[in-house]
Amino acid sequence: MTLTLSVVGCGYLGATHAACMSSLGFTVIGVDTDPNKVEMLQNGELPFYEPGLDTLLAQEMKTGRLSFTTDFSAVKDADVHFVCVGTPQSKDGLAADLTYVRSAVEAIAPYLKDGSLVVGKSTVPVGTAQSLREQLAKNAPQADLAWNPEFLREGFAVEDTLTPNRLVVGVANDRAEVILKEVYESIIALGTPWIRADLPTAELVKVAANSFLATKISFINAMAEVCEAAGGDVTVLAQAIGYDPRIGNKFLQAGIGFGGGCLPKDIRAFMARAEELGAKQALEFLREIDAINLRARQRVIDVVRSELSEDLTQYKIAVLGATFKPDSDDVRDSPALDIAAQLQAAGATVVVHDPKGIEPARKRFPNLEYAQVITDAVKGADLLLHLTEWKEYRAIDPSAISALVKNKIIIDGRNMLDRELWRKSGWKFHALGRTD
Ligand code: UDX
Repeated sequence: MTLTLSVVGCGYLGATHAACMSSLGFTVIGVDTDPNKVEMLQNGELPFYEPGLDTLLAQEMKTGRLSFTTDFSAVKDADVHFVCVGTPQSKDGLAADLTYVRSAVEAIAPYLKDGSLVVGKSTVPVGTAQSLREQLAKNAPQADLAWNPEFLREGFAVEDTLTPNRLVVGVANDRAEVILKEVYESIIALGTPWIRADLPTAELVKVAANSFLATKISFINAMAEVCEAAGGDVTVLAQAIGYDPRIGNKFLQAGIGFGGGCLPKDIRAFMARAEELGAKQALEFLREIDAINLRARQRVIDVVRSELSEDLTQYKIAVLGATFKPDSDDVRDSPALDIAAQLQAAGATVVVHDPKGIEPARKRFPNLEYAQVITDAVKGADLLLHLTEWKEYRAIDPSAISALVKNKIIIDGRNMLDRELWRKSGWKFHALGRTD
């Protein structure tokens, strides 16, 4: 008999997981407390932008296997319940806010059928799974709990869910592992590595992976700072060290650093949790990783001031990119938008362009100016900032926009534009970590 699944929390992770599990042939019921989100999903529309997921969702809705509701009792027939709610940074500190995870488990507890398995996918501080399992043992002893962290990247969500580079399950007994193996049977059949861990290790895998990625990015941004001081070129340095397979060439793109809904808050929550556990010193280096990351934003602002003036009130700056990375409309903790807002706060007129992120950016920063087309954004600009590496920006012909701007100055905050091309068209071209 095929398992029936529920997905609790239908944001980025949950909506992706629900549609992907349906595409594997399972009956999936998605539950979320937000009626607008549920209505959109139920109509086959995605409340956010993710390449490929819109088509998959529409296709799966037609099969009749996938549905969405705000009614938690709808999970009553499911055998496996995936908890996919957010764990944002808490308002008063570095720790993760676990309110949504706890209330999701509480909300489904009365409807859990005999032998069902609750599977946490949200990124949580180590120890959360064990405490939720104990809570379930009291409220719903007929059910068990496991943890199955997800590693999906925005922009590659479907690919990362259906063909992940590994599956990690934290379980307290064999039965939970057997159930999860049944869920992921077709993915395991592709040769996907399967890692069984205990609950705390599974939780730690996720934050350790994100900490490592954040460290790689801040490492290369620290090298960029040294290159600037010493007259070197960080892009050549990254290429050269990346050939060493022990180092690898991925995640060595120097620039304005990492943002988004995961890396920044995950390293902070990890530090907070380590401190609670008495292991504060072990993760002190993450404080530096965070500081290097935030400093990259400041370094761009410093170059802007040195190019224009300390006083920015008379200047118009065009910002290309608002999202934290391309192929996403996510502006959470976006370095690009942060820089744009800081420049505006310093008195500059800032016009932001982004292929997908204007509306989410406007919600966060309603006072910034926005332009739907690149040429409108750059018109009359004293300086251009390239802050999110959308392919549209690499397609810009610098000579074609030369006549539109006031000054031909560009700062490439992502080290992705063709410096020679821009210089040939008479532009003054700056890039982080590259001296001329
Ligand atoms: C990340 C993890 O990669 C993923 O495994 C996890 O499940 C969720 O968090 P995501 O937030 O989608 O995924 O973004 P990611 O692709 O990791 O990029 C994070 C940030 O780092 C972006 O702002 C990106 O621009 C920046 N970055 C990435 C760099 O500045 N340099 C790089 O070399 C790579």
